Amino acid sequence: MHKTTANSAASSHKDHRRQQLIDATIKTISQYGLSNTTIAKVTEQADLSAGIVGFYFNSKARLLLGTLQWLNEELRRHTQTAFNDAATPMEKLIAVIDVYFAPTLCDQDKIAVWYAFSSESNARNEYTKICSEHYTWLHQSMLGQVQSLCRQAKIDAASAEAITRGLDGIIDGYWQDFLYQPDIFDRKQARQTCYRYLHTIFPQLTQPFRTVHKDLNETELSDCLPTWTYYDEEFLELEKRTVFKNNWLLVGHINDMPNPRDYLTLDAIDERVIVIRGNDKQIRAFHNVCRHRGAKLFDALSGQCGHALVCPFHGWTYQLDGKLIGVPAENTFTSLDKSANGLVPLELEIWMGFIFVRFVSDGQALAEQMKPLEAVFAAYRIENMLPLENSGFDEILPYNWKVIHDIDNEGYHVPVGHPALHQLYGKNYQDSDIAGIPVSYGYINEKPGKLWSVRHYQSLLPKFDHLPQDYQRLWQYGAIFPSMVIALYPDCIEFYMTIPVAADQTRLRGGVYALADNRRGMDAVRYLNRRINAITADEDEKYVRWLQDGMKSSVFPEPSLSSIEHGVRTFHHQLQAIIPVGKLKNHPGKGKVIQTNSQLIQAA
Ligand code: FES
Repeated sequence: MHKTTANSAASSHKDHRRQQLIDATIKTISQYGLSNTTIAKVTEQADLSAGIVGFYFNSKARLLLGTLQWLNEELRRHTQTAFNDAATPMEKLIAVIDVYFAPTLCDQDKIAVWYAFSSESNARNEYTKICSEHYTWLHQSMLGQVQSLCRQAKIDAASAEAITRGLDGIIDGYWQDFLYQPDIFDRKQARQTCYRYLHTIFPQLTQPFRTVHKDLNETELSDCLPTWTYYDEEFLELEKRTVFKNNWLLVGHINDMPNPRDYLTLDAIDERVIVIRGNDKQIRAFHNVCRHRGAKLFDALSGQCGHALVCPFHGWTYQLDGKLIGVPAENTFTSLDKSANGLVPLELEIWMGFIFVRFVSDGQALAEQMKPLEAVFAAYRIENMLPLENSGFDEILPYNWKVIHDIDNEGYHVPVGHPALHQLYGKNYQDSDIAGIPVSYGYINEKPGKLWSVRHYQSLLPKFDHLPQDYQRLWQYGAIFPSMVIALYPDCIEFYMTIPVAADQTRLRGGVYALADNRRGMDAVRYLNRRINAITADEDEKYVRWLQDGMKSSVFPEPSLSSIEHGVRTFHHQLQAIIPVGKLKNHPGKGKVIQTNSQLIQAA
């Protein structure tokens, strides 16, 4: 295993173990109560040895505190997202109610643990601090919305506190009901009670809950993503938050940054990333955001920095591991804690030499997600590959990101749309999948192509000792959700990834990598490969543009997909499962996309 891969795997393993202990602590507290929770019970629940708690948390007290902190962060994150996603004060309150009764937070074990810590909080300052800070934060956030509603409804502002406390009480009461009577608890009824409470006070600012859902149920649904989802900025905002922020994004390859102090950057979905190799050779990822006032530490796509990262704006200086070590005129800052102002790290995993990062660490580990592809990819020795000169690209295209994948996700268009590729594959091309991950492949046709590039590639392609017989003359492509494609050719490999910038703008980033191979003719083979792919990309550019323009046409039909275009349907269904408003044939109305999406999630 490559050293950086080992480091990354070790760090991911460590996070996994830590989380395992927190999950087991939640279950144990829920089952036995806080005072009867012991390390032995937690480790038995986690199926781990007792010594492991000492390794990750030092003591039982730290484990309990870590568990409460984790619960608090989870609650805060979901609530904050609900506030951010909604537009009006009423929508924000409804979104928070929905979040509080969704299964992620309204979970019997987690609620039991919250109440256990809250009732224990007189005994320990740390517990009191966390619990009371959270309740105060939530109350103040809701109070702000209620004050706005009072102003709109011309209700005396002094009533806002009482109205907010009433809502706090209803939510709290239902959480206690769930704790003591989980079998008869009805989430929908709990939400409806909160809505009715708000409706009673602000009748002109709310719609009765049933009416909203009746309208949605009567809305026409579309099997594939409807055309409005290709040019709607609100839908794009949902895609950024729910598809891209919590999925792995590919920044580059370990050999794009082989030396200490080498770095890569990526700007994606309103975030900025630096990936940097430290003097210890370890690769780390951070937000490319100076903690002073948010300037970019690096503007270039790649490069090598000095022995420290120096912000070009005012010169705050960070170690390569992100620690803040220098602040010009430090004595002019009141109470600046340097130790709390290091660069903010990002989750990073390395898979087969590819460096991935994720903004929200909530889902599957990358290694787990990619496991089904391991057997196929391992043969290519990607982690040993080097970038082909001038093959990297990072550019903005004037299309919606999904159109590019709608073309990629089916090979039905190859025989007509891509003459060069069709000559290369003959009738061999197939769209398939490995454990649900789309993989397409085509064996190189033995009949010589008419095109010069194809014919010469077919004849010059040599044997590759590291590849099994079946892969010697095979081109295959893996599509990794949400927006990456890795193409495996015998002579090189390639990746590209799309990242939405606006509804009609997409960042396309990628590169080509190959093993060192000095055999005569290898440069020519790789040149021919690139030429065939360039011809294909030119052809695709035209189809993408036509599809994008067609989305706004008044006569655009719903797609009629053949059985061999199943990849397009699968991709759309994956997105609709995450963003259910994408099932609605008609746009739900300006400013209502995010709210309607929340309602559909809750109605499901
Ligand atoms: Fe970086 Fe001021 S913004 S030092």
